Amino acid sequence: MRKAKILTTGMYVPDYVVTNDLLAQAMDTSDEWITQRTGIKERRMIPDTYKMLQQLARAPDKEAYLRTLYDTGVDGKIDAEMSTADLALAATQDALRRANMTPQDLDLIIQTSVVPDYVYPGVACVLAEKLHLTSTPTFSLNQGCAGFIYILSLADQYIKTGAYNTVLVLGAELMSSIFYYGVRGRDMSVLFADGAGAAILVPAADDEPSGLISHHLHTDGTLLSKLYGELFGSTTFPPAVKKKIDDDRARPRMEGRVVFAQAVRRFREVIQECLEANKIGIDDVDHFLFHQANKRLLAAVADSLNIPSSKIPLNVHKYGNTSAASVPILLHETLRDGRIKRGDLCLLVAFGTGFSWGASLLRW
Ligand code: ACO
Repeated sequence: MRKAKILTTGMYVPDYVVTNDLLAQAMDTSDEWITQRTGIKERRMIPDTYKMLQQLARAPDKEAYLRTLYDTGVDGKIDAEMSTADLALAATQDALRRANMTPQDLDLIIQTSVVPDYVYPGVACVLAEKLHLTSTPTFSLNQGCAGFIYILSLADQYIKTGAYNTVLVLGAELMSSIFYYGVRGRDMSVLFADGAGAAILVPAADDEPSGLISHHLHTDGTLLSKLYGELFGSTTFPPAVKKKIDDDRARPRMEGRVVFAQAVRRFREVIQECLEANKIGIDDVDHFLFHQANKRLLAAVADSLNIPSSKIPLNVHKYGNTSAASVPILLHETLRDGRIKRGDLCLLVAFGTGFSWGASLLRW
C-alpha cells in the first residue's frame, strides 16, 4: 500500500495582537492571572474582535457596552470583516505558494473548524468558492481542538488507498467572536484566539523514509457538558432566538479543572498507545508537537511521561489556544525555523471538546 507524506505546510494569523494588558483593560482579569495559569502573553484576533475589545477597554460602563454589542453590533454593524473561510484561504494560499501549486492541483480538501461561516454549507465549500474551484471534492469536520489529527488520518487513508494524490488538510479557527468578554465569560475568552494552519499531503516514493506512520483517535461523549458551545444550534427552537442570548445560553461553557485533568490524562494515554503500537519509546521521538492549549497543562503532560522540554516546541505564549489550527501552525513554525530535520520522528497530539483526542506519528 502507498504511504502519504506532508509535502509542505502554511499558516496565517491575523495582524492584530491582543495582549493580556488589553484584555485586562477590557474586563476584570490580569496579565498575572493569565500568565500564571496558561503561559499565554498575547494572541492574534480578527479585526472585528480587536476593534470591539478596544472599544470595550475605553467604555466607562462595560456591561452597558456589551449589551449594545449584542443588540446592534460594533458601531451599528453586524457584518464581520473576516470569517473563518478568510483565515482558511490565507493559510491555503501560503501552503500552495510554498508547494508551487495552484488550487486546481488539489484533488481533495478536508477542513476542520469549531466556528463555521454558516451552519451550511461547511467552511470547505466557502473556501472552494474563494479558490474558484468548481468540482474539487471538499468536506468539513468539526472535531474541536483534536480536529487536525482527525483530518490528517482521513487524508492519509485517501492517499494510501490511491483514491487521491494531492490532499489539502487545514484547521481554521475563528474563536474570538464567540466568547463573552465580561466576568462570566472570562474563563474562556482569555484562552482562545484566531488562526489557521494547512498542510498539503502527497504520496511518498517507495524508498522514501518520510511519511505518516500511524493515527490513534478517541472520543468520550459522556463528559460533553464540561466543554461545549450551544451558540445557535438546533438545541433550541428556533435555533437563533433572542431569548437564547437573554438567558445566556449563546455562550460557550467550560469546567476548566475537569478539562485540565482530562486533557493531561488523555494526552498521556494516547502518547503511550502510539509508542506501544509502534514499539518505540519517548527517546525515539524527536519532537512532540502538542496542541497549544496551555503551557501549564503541557508541562503536566511532559512531567508525567518524563519528556524533556527541549522536545516540546511551544508557541502558546504568542498565539493562545487556536483550537484545531494550533497543531498545523506549530508544525509549520517548527519546520520553518529549522528545528525539525529530515528524518526526524514527530508525534502530533491534540485534545478538545467532545471530549475527542488523538495522536499521529510521522517521519519528516
Ligand atoms: N481572570 C481572572 N480571574 C479569572 C479568570 C480570568 N480570566 N477566569 C476565571 N477567573 C476566576 C474565577 O472566577 C475563579 O474565581 P473565584 O475563585 O473567586 O470563584 C477563579 O479565577 C478560579 O481560579 P482557579 O480555580 O485557580 O482556576 P484554575 O487554576 O482552575 O485555572 C483554567 C483556570 C486556566 C481555565 C484552568 O482550569 C485550565 O487551564 N483548564 C484547562 C482549560 C483549557 O485548556 N481549555 C481549552 C479547551 S480544551 C483544550 O484545548 C485542551
